Amino acid sequence: MNKFGGDWTENKIEILVEYAVAYLTIMNSFANKHKWKLLYFDGFAGSGYIKKGNEENQKIIIGAASRILNISKPREFDLYYFVEKETNNVKSLKENTKDIYPDKNIHVVETDCNEKIEAMSRFLSTRQNGIYKALAYIDPCGMQLNWSSLETLEKLSVDVWILVPTGMGVNRLLKNDGRISEAWISKLELFLGMSRKEIIDYFYVEDIIPTLFGDEVIIKKEERAVEKSAELYSKRLKKLFNFVSDPYILKNKSNSVMFHFLMATNNKAAVKVANEIVNKYNKLS
Ligand SMILES: C[S@@+](CC[C@H](N)C(=O)[O-])C[C@H]1O[C@@H](n2cnc3c(N)ncnc32)[C@H](O)[C@@H]1O
Repeated sequence: MNKFGGDWTENKIEILVEYAVAYLTIMNSFANKHKWKLLYFDGFAGSGYIKKGNEENQKIIIGAASRILNISKPREFDLYYFVEKETNNVKSLKENTKDIYPDKNIHVVETDCNEKIEAMSRFLSTRQNGIYKALAYIDPCGMQLNWSSLETLEKLSVDVWILVPTGMGVNRLLKNDGRISEAWISKLELFLGMSRKEIIDYFYVEDIIPTLFGDEVIIKKEERAVEKSAELYSKRLKKLFNFVSDPYILKNKSNSVMFHFLMATNNKAAVKVANEIVNKYNKLS
C-alpha cells in the first residue's frame, strides 16, 4: 500500500476521474463513428490504494487505477495499461485490478514508466492494432519522469495529466548558492531536458558583493523558483503539445507548494474541459 496523502491527493484523483468521464463522453460518439479504440495508460500506478495520515489516524483512499476501472458510463476504455516499478505494489495492484475485473482488457507491468511511455508512443504511432486515442496519467512521487520520454509523445493523440514536482522536486534540488551536487544537476537535466548551463541561467541571478579587495560576484537562486519551474515546464510542454491546461496547485499543511498538476493535449476542446475542472478545484483549496 502506498503512503502518500493529504487532501490534495484526493482532489488530484477527483480531477482525473472527472476528466476521464468527460473524455469518455466526448470520445464515445467519435469512437463509434470512426472505429477508434480508447486506451488508458497509468505510468505510476501504485498498489490500488493509498494510505493517508499517520498510524493512529489513518484513512485509506481508493487509488486512481481502481477509480478509473470503476467508470462504466458512458463507456469503458478498450484497454487499460498500468505500469508500476515496485514488486509489492504490482502484486497488490493486480489483485485490485485484474482479479476484480477479469472481463476487462487490463495489463499490469512491472517496470520503469519511461520505458513504457516510449513503448506507448510507438503503439499510438502504428495503426496495425487499430486507431487508438489515449488518456495518460503520470503520477510520480518524485522526479522519475524523464523529459525525453515525454518528447516521444509529441503531437500524438494523447491527453496527458502530469504531476510535476515543482516544490517537492525541482526547488529542493536547486541549492540556494548554486552549488548543486553532480547527482542532483544530472537529475535536473534528465527531468527538464535542459543543459546545466540553461538550468543555472534560468533559475539563478548574479549578485555583486562589495569586499575589501573589490566586488565579488556570486549567484543566488531566484525567489520565485517554484513558480518559475511550473512556468518553465508548462512552456516546454507547449513545444510538444498544442495546449497545456492551467495547473491545479497542490500545497502541504504549511501552505508550501509541492506539486503542479496539469494536462497537455493537442485538442482544444479537451483543454477547455480540463481548465474548467482544475479551476473549480483550485477555488476549493
Ligand atoms: C504517487 S504513487 C502513485 C499513486 C497512484 N497513482 C494512485 O493513485 O494510487 C507513485 C508510484 O510510482 C511508483 N514508481 C516510482 N518510480 C517509478 C518508475 N520509475 N516507474 C514506474 N513506477 C514508479 C512508486 O512505487 C509508487 O507506487
